[in-house]
Amino acid sequence: MSQSPHPFHLISLSILLLSSISSSQAKVDTFTYVNQGEFGPYVTEYGADYRILPIGNVPFEMAFYNTTPGAFYLALRMGTTRSESVFRWVWEANRGRPVGENATFSLLPDGNLVLADADRRNVWSTGTANKGVVGLMVLPTGNIILYDSKDRTIWQSFDHPTDTLLVGQSLDYNKGPKKLVSRRSATDGSYGIYSLVFQPGGIKLFINDYIPYYDFSVNGVLSFSGNPILLEVEPETDEDAFAYAYEVRFATAGQGTTILTRPKYNATLSFLRLDIDGNLVVYTYYDPVDYRAWEKTFALFSDQIGLLPGCALPSKCSKFGVCQDEMCIACPSPVGLLGWSNGCVPPQVKGCDNKGKGQTEDYYKIVGVENFVSTYTKGEGKVKMEECRRKCTMDCKCVGFLYWEKESKCWLANFLGTLSKVDESSHVVYVKYLKN
Ligand SMILES: *[C@@H]1O[C@H](CO)[C@@H](O)[C@H](O)[C@H]1NC(C)=O
Ligand SMILES: *[C@@H]1O[C@H](CO)[C@@H](O)[C@H](O)[C@H]1NC(C)=O
Repeated sequence: MSQSPHPFHLISLSILLLSSISSSQAKVDTFTYVNQGEFGPYVTEYGADYRILPIGNVPFEMAFYNTTPGAFYLALRMGTTRSESVFRWVWEANRGRPVGENATFSLLPDGNLVLADADRRNVWSTGTANKGVVGLMVLPTGNIILYDSKDRTIWQSFDHPTDTLLVGQSLDYNKGPKKLVSRRSATDGSYGIYSLVFQPGGIKLFINDYIPYYDFSVNGVLSFSGNPILLEVEPETDEDAFAYAYEVRFATAGQGTTILTRPKYNATLSFLRLDIDGNLVVYTYYDPVDYRAWEKTFALFSDQIGLLPGCALPSKCSKFGVCQDEMCIACPSPVGLLGWSNGCVPPQVKGCDNKGKGQTEDYYKIVGVENFVSTYTKGEGKVKMEECRRKCTMDCKCVGFLYWEKESKCWLANFLGTLSKVDESSHVVYVKYLKN
């Protein structure tokens, strides 16, 4: 034999390799779709442009979409052309990692599902090479699955929620997904500041992953056992089995249910979402109507359709404001309460990067308000107001503090947001600001 292999050997080797691949993987239903061509004509959420892929199951379809030019996401949308209502985006693969024109979405012969940029760089994949995958399918629930020749699910999108939980989808703190994260904004679908975490006993909501603004252990409206929770929709029936209303609810195996909303129509096509503003909402799609088929049927923070007051949502007044009866009634300032507008922002402080050198920090007081901090963060008491203030001044992350004058209780705040008006005038908030 010669030192270097004869060309014939090379050829036969590659034929051998090819035939072994094709014999063991012959049944893989491969595909490749390229992100190019005309955009679709219908209105979709976030004002997105999109290119539909021929993969779906009514009312779900896969698509490439973009909210800024050239930055595309592989996603699942929900809706039908029949009702001429907006299509909503309920899942995406490559969150925060956009691909460009001519990106490819492929089910490879080895069973891996891959999203690659035009330069062939892999941006996202399911990591399912050589696991027996033979095909991809979208189930009627909107679950995208990869299955093997025995119809077992090898990978499913339901294990990788973004900001949305579809009906039939579960959170499971033990072994399944336990977290939803809001979008940053309508145009930016990457990870926002609000998260929902399912823990033993229930749901917690966080700002920046560490500041709780809802906690089941304090306010048990969404408490459960340790078992997984499933989002489900069931008709309410009377003795004649005629449905008057549908319940959209969380169900825990053997532990009953928590009803979120009960629309008086067929609400089977619903989903739960941690919205851009941090509210936990249910959107319900009712296809038989001719237009406006979507209804927001639940919002955790809402006087009308929720379980907690609307003013308790930290972002109710956008970045800053005083809220009463779901209305933003004032913008606090060092010179007192001013009229509120969307431009109301909390004052500048030195912060941990020590802005405003040469200026001193002071506090102004707002009477008869509180926010989520006194409900969901451990306070201190009894302490004097001066001590509470000193602690806030020493802490570069502290932007103000809540103080209950009768009880002498103190809470340092790293985030103020919306302040709810309360009858108790001894509940006050001191806001840190830079004095000239
Ligand atoms: C995408 O590929 C096509 C050829 O299929 C090419 O004409 C076009 O210029 C490419 N677009 C971009 C933005 O690379
Ligand atoms: C309710 O809506 C779902 C989804 O469109 C449909 O499959 C189901 O048949 C409807 N149920 C009734 C009782 O009409």
